[in-house]
Amino acid sequence: MSSAKTTILVTGGAGYIGSHTVLALKQAGYEVIVLDNLVYGHQDLVEKVLQVELIVGDIGDRSLLDNLFHNRNIAGVMHFSAYAYVGESVKEPAKYYHNNVVGTLNLLGAMEAAGVHRFVFSSTCATYGIPQVIPIPEDHSQKPINPYGATKLMVERILADFDVAYNLKSVCFRYFNAAGADPHGRLGEDHSPETHLIPLVLFTALGKRESISMFGTDYDTPDGTCVRDYIHVSDLADAHVLGLEYLLKGGDSQAFNLGNGKGFSVKDVIETAKQVTGKEIKIIECDRRPGDPPILIGSAKKATTILGWQPQYSSLQDILTHAWQWHQKRHK
Ligand SMILES: NC(=O)c1ccc[n+]([C@@H]2O[C@H](COP(=O)([O-])OP(=O)(O)OC[C@H]3O[C@@H](n4cnc5c(N)ncnc54)[C@H](O)[C@@H]3O)[C@@H](O)[C@H]2O)c1
Repeated sequence: MSSAKTTILVTGGAGYIGSHTVLALKQAGYEVIVLDNLVYGHQDLVEKVLQVELIVGDIGDRSLLDNLFHNRNIAGVMHFSAYAYVGESVKEPAKYYHNNVVGTLNLLGAMEAAGVHRFVFSSTCATYGIPQVIPIPEDHSQKPINPYGATKLMVERILADFDVAYNLKSVCFRYFNAAGADPHGRLGEDHSPETHLIPLVLFTALGKRESISMFGTDYDTPDGTCVRDYIHVSDLADAHVLGLEYLLKGGDSQAFNLGNGKGFSVKDVIETAKQVTGKEIKIIECDRRPGDPPILIGSAKKATTILGWQPQYSSLQDILTHAWQWHQKRHK
C-alpha cells in the first residue's frame, strides 16, 4: 500500500526507542509528528538528525491533543512516552501511575474524540513478572512485580476494553531488553540517569565510570550471572513499522513479544564489550538485587509469523559495536 501521505503521531519520539522508530517511519515514507515533553528526550536528535516536526508538549495536555488531532490528519499513534525506571517506580508509584496510566488514558480519550483508531503501544516483558516458562510466550501469565510493570499491564487492559467498546485497534509490543544503536551512528541511547547494563559497561570502557557492578554471581545460570534477551533497537523500530502497517490494513488487536529468543549473561556482555572496545573493564561483584529473575528470554515467534518480523542484528557483537560507535561520538 502507498504510505506517502500517511501521518503518524509518535509520542516520546525524542527518546531512545521512539527516535529510532521515527527514523524507520521516515524511511518507510510516512510523515511523522513527534510529541515529547523533553523530560528525557533530546531535541537535537528530532530536529537536527531526524528533521521531523517536534511538538514540545505533554500527553496529559488534553487541549493540546484535541487541537493536534483536529488540525492534522493523523492515521495512527505510536505511544512511547512513559517513565521507565523500575526502581523509581517502587519508590514513587504515584508518579508512574499518573504519567503512564492517566497520561495514556488522556491520549486515548483525545484519539477517541477525534476518531483515530490505530494505536501501537510500548509494553514490556516486565508485565510477565517471574517467568514460569522460558522462552516466555505471549499467553504466559502477567503478574508484574513492580509498579512500572503494573502501569504497562493496566494500559494493555484498557486497550482490550477500548477495542470492545470503541473499536480501537492496538498492537502492544512487549519488549525485552532494548539495546544497541542505529548502525550508521545517527542515533543511540542517551538516558540520564542511565541504568541499563550495556551503556553502563561502555561508560566504564570510555572512562566515564570507574567500574561496573555485577549483581549476583550465584544464580542458577551457566556462568552464575543473570541472563537477558537483548534486542537491537533498529529491529524494534522495524517491528513498529510492521505493526502499524498491520493495523492500517485492518488487523485485529494483538500483543507481541519483541526479543531475540536468545539469552546473554552479564558476563557475556562484559566479555564482548572488552573485545569490541579493546579496553579493560573493571568489575565489582555485588549481592543479588531483589526482584531480578535469573533468566528472561522471550519467544517472538508470533511477531515473525503474523507480522513477518525478522531481527537483523541478533549477535551481541553487532549490538555492542553499534552502541560503542554511538557512545564514542556522543560523549567525545
Ligand atoms: N528501554 C527499554 O529497554 C524498554 C523495555 C521495555 C519497554 N520500554 C518502553 O518503551 C518506551 C520507550 O522507552 P525508551 O527507553 O525509549 O525511554 P525514553 O525515556 O528514552 O523515552 C521516553 C520519551 O517519552 C518522553 N515523555 C515521558 N513522559 C512524557 C509525557 N507525559 N508527555 C510527553 N512526553 C513524555 C520523554 O521525554 C522521552 O523522550 C517506554 O514506554 C518504555 O516503558 C523500554
